[in-house]
Amino acid sequence: MIILGIESSCDETAAAVYSDKGLLCNIVASQLEHEAFGGVVPELASRAHELIITSTVKQALDEADIRLEDIDAIAVTRGPGLLGALLVGLCFAKGLSLRIGKPVIGINHIDAHVYANFIEQKPEFPFVSLVVSGGHTQLSYVEKPFSHQLLGESRDDAAGEAFDKIGKLLGLPYPAGPQMDALAKKGDPSAYKFPQALLHEGLDFSFSGLKTSVLYHLKDIPEGQREAYVHNNIENLCAGISHAITEVLVKKLEKAVSQTGVKAIVLAGGVSANSMLREKTKKLADENGLTLHIPKPIYCTDNAAMIAVTGYLKAQSGMYDNLHMKPFARLPRAKVQDRNGPGPMA
Ligand code: KG4
Ligand code: ZN
Repeated sequence: MIILGIESSCDETAAAVYSDKGLLCNIVASQLEHEAFGGVVPELASRAHELIITSTVKQALDEADIRLEDIDAIAVTRGPGLLGALLVGLCFAKGLSLRIGKPVIGINHIDAHVYANFIEQKPEFPFVSLVVSGGHTQLSYVEKPFSHQLLGESRDDAAGEAFDKIGKLLGLPYPAGPQMDALAKKGDPSAYKFPQALLHEGLDFSFSGLKTSVLYHLKDIPEGQREAYVHNNIENLCAGISHAITEVLVKKLEKAVSQTGVKAIVLAGGVSANSMLREKTKKLADENGLTLHIPKPIYCTDNAAMIAVTGYLKAQSGMYDNLHMKPFARLPRAKVQDRNGPGPMA
């Protein structure tokens, strides 16, 4: 079985091929045109996807050394994400499906982050997954493949969004997460005490208060001295902020594990590349005899390898879609979700 995966939900145009022999290639073309705007501009993202999707897919086929006719199914991200961006990938996949007469498989982007762990490992079910990305922070109980029960999620900003927005306050370029991670390594996490919202309340998260707290902290510094203050304390500030974010994530993960009784944890999404989060999760797993799965950093951020492997797993269970499949921008906020979105005709 050979699956072509296509990802276009945000600002990465990506294509990959996953087969019985494993991952054959993983092409990610990142859009740089958003940097000047301090965040992703949806219209620019759609245009950029449209411009490069053909060459990205072609490059993937070349690197995998396969022909179009060798593909057994096309897995493509249906959502959540930017609607215009998703449409580009979906239309491309449907056109290709018509051309080669092979089926499409719609992929939930958040689930694909979780199944990124299956590219090189085979996590055992059931497990608790924590998806921490720029758009989502979701804690789920995963009993068996594609059976995800939502335990908690962010009520406002996602963890990655918190890193990016707070980084912007500190004058760091978008996306600020990776740079804050590098700076935090050189700082003291206890030098500042930033709030850890909802720490002892349920399994939901909230990160917008942390952003406001950093904003007011900076406002307390006289305007003329603010830039120098940030410059001189950037490492400790980043360490304190990273500490506040990762403490809440790990405490909730610990609570979810004890509530469900699982023996394995799966971490996923762009923020799972964060070194402080990886260290703390490893400590949690070691102390409690849990198996921990975290994807390689290249499979943590948006990529199509995770779409292709999820498509491969779905194809093995006969979970195909048809050409009526539509994109969805967001999933309904409910504890038990239809992980495939609002239905093919919705
Ligand atoms: O999963 P992803 O690539 O895209 C979404 O689906 O959103 O996640 C991107 C997010 C961005 O907010 C970025 O700042 C964050 O992941 N990120 C990190 C790190 N690497 C990426 N945040 C903290 N530390 C990192 N090392
Ligand atoms: Zn993502």
